[in-house]
Amino acid sequence: MAQKKFYVTTPIYYVTAKPHLGSLYSTLLADVLKRWHRLKGEKTFFLTGTDEHGQKIAQAAQQVGKEPKAFVDSFVPAYKSAWQMFDINYDYFVRTTDDYHKKGAQYLVQQLLDKGDIYKDSYEGWYCVSCETFVTEKDAQKGTVAPPCPSCGRPTIEVSEETYFFKLSAYQEKLLEFYRENPNFVAPKERMNEMLSFVQAGLKDLSISRTTVQWGIPFPNDPKHIIYVWVEALTNYITAIGYGQPNKQKEFDLWWPADVQILGKDIIRFHGVFWPAFLMAAGLELPKRLLVHGWIKIDKQKMSKSLGNVVDPVELHARYGTDAVRYYLCRQMAINQDGDFSIGDLEQRISSDLANDLGNLLNRVVTLALKNNLVAVDAPKTWSEASINLRDESWNVVEDFANHMDDCMFHLALTRLWEFIHKVNAYFHAHEPWKLAQKDQKLFLEVISATCHSLRDIAHLLWPVMPKKMEQLLFSLGQNLEFNHDTIEDLDLCTWHHQFKLTQIPALFEKPEPTKEEIMEEKVTVPESHITIDDVTKVELRIGTITECETVEKSNKLLRMQVDFGDLGVRQILAGVREYYQPADLAGKQAVFVTNLKPRKMMGMESQGMMLVTDSEGGKKRVVQPSEKAPNGSRLS
Ligand code: MSP
Repeated sequence: MAQKKFYVTTPIYYVTAKPHLGSLYSTLLADVLKRWHRLKGEKTFFLTGTDEHGQKIAQAAQQVGKEPKAFVDSFVPAYKSAWQMFDINYDYFVRTTDDYHKKGAQYLVQQLLDKGDIYKDSYEGWYCVSCETFVTEKDAQKGTVAPPCPSCGRPTIEVSEETYFFKLSAYQEKLLEFYRENPNFVAPKERMNEMLSFVQAGLKDLSISRTTVQWGIPFPNDPKHIIYVWVEALTNYITAIGYGQPNKQKEFDLWWPADVQILGKDIIRFHGVFWPAFLMAAGLELPKRLLVHGWIKIDKQKMSKSLGNVVDPVELHARYGTDAVRYYLCRQMAINQDGDFSIGDLEQRISSDLANDLGNLLNRVVTLALKNNLVAVDAPKTWSEASINLRDESWNVVEDFANHMDDCMFHLALTRLWEFIHKVNAYFHAHEPWKLAQKDQKLFLEVISATCHSLRDIAHLLWPVMPKKMEQLLFSLGQNLEFNHDTIEDLDLCTWHHQFKLTQIPALFEKPEPTKEEIMEEKVTVPESHITIDDVTKVELRIGTITECETVEKSNKLLRMQVDFGDLGVRQILAGVREYYQPADLAGKQAVFVTNLKPRKMMGMESQGMMLVTDSEGGKKRVVQPSEKAPNGSRLS
């Protein structure tokens, strides 16, 4: 069977400043996808780059008194070095000022001219320089002289110029037919609906050249016009792999169409409507899938250079390192939604998911084995029931994880994998292998081997997200990540017959030091003795179902729970009831929680609410439960 190919692209970035966390996000998703397909044995190609022409760049350069080319040249290294810092393994970096790109873009426009899909007329209307968008009458706010841009809200400018139009309206039906036949063209689904309604509302012909802007690629045979920046920018996805270059036809045929094109929700119209129409007009295949992600927000606002609320990835890297940030972005942000960036969440993920759940597990198993002179760990010939159950679970996990990754739902893949990591921890602790070493050598060896096998599977699956750390983890087990395989089956996951040669390595993840503010947060505040009815109504008491419950390492008081509050979502809540309950006693149960308490840190983890308990006989605390099942999130009054 011929090796499958996988071609993934990111949007190309406007180089008016250094990259920010939002730019890193789009690029990281592409890297994770590339690595995932590489892990599956496919031949991969990952394209990223910079969008360097147009009025926005020309204006920004002018403001600092630079020539546009010198201006963009000054930022490109910052992109390349940020990507290197985060182990972004792109195959090619396209710049729209590159010569082959200019020729390729002109070639595409020539195809549309030859087809008769372009005509000359004049454009009168508004233009948003920041989004490089013609704001149509349909989009404009009625009655405003220069309406704000419907996408970014900035003021538009009035434009009146001769222009070439592309007959976009002629593609309305063809596009609708294509969407109907390819319902998975856009992921997630809600974005597809957004696009459908835009097209169904009627498409107008699109202005595709400018005469009042000089910084761009000349229109074929009419250099007074430059090609509208979005037309040539979109073309990068094909020019970079050889489009318009006869000596590169083979390369182009190998990679095109792209398998996944990644973009933020702000630029879906360009990618989902204009781009497919240009491709149809040029007689080229359409990309197989557009993956549209939400925005990273700060205090509920989109992070953007002009709002001045950007998080610098370089600073995050200096404080938390490459893989922790990669993990956080993939796990915390649901790809189909906007997500708020928070240092507290990032630190909590590092402490609890990475340092506690994963790093400590590796450290414990290796330390314990080596302390008992077990360096080479052979797989036992037969396994006990508990180990077989764990192995069977690893099969399920690999399958679920792969489905979520193929669906580009990274956060779901990671959540599922962490359920398994919790199970491996539970298996390890339940066997108390530190006692077995003396009592039952055979079982001791089995527990060490089963844990190493589980860690081997975990490390492979996590490699696309945290490549360096997972290579270190595998090294500690005496394993290598081999890339001479053709299918994921060749990785021999979940087949527990491997031998491990253990080496102690430094802790995989360090818990971040708590900042001063967090230390303050941990202080207990003393309540006043009398309160008014207003105080009572201030307290929001709600019913929630405990979907997951587990012990907290180094704490003999706390249990960590995931609690489902219906529309309010799932929250993490820590409760000091470990002395009275085993995690299994609470999992699946409903209880009463205070849900509007300011989140507080305990043992470095955030608790987003408080569970109500009552004293009972013998000083035992008991959880307060509704007398009959109530809807999750329902309020007590
Ligand atoms: N140059 C165009 C794209 C042309 S592609 C042919 C552009 N550039 S951009 O630099 O403004 O944005 C590039 C990508 O970064 C977009 O997908 C955008 O959604 C993403 N992000 C920019 N800020 C973002 C966040 N705050 N959060 C997540 N991604 C966001 O548009």
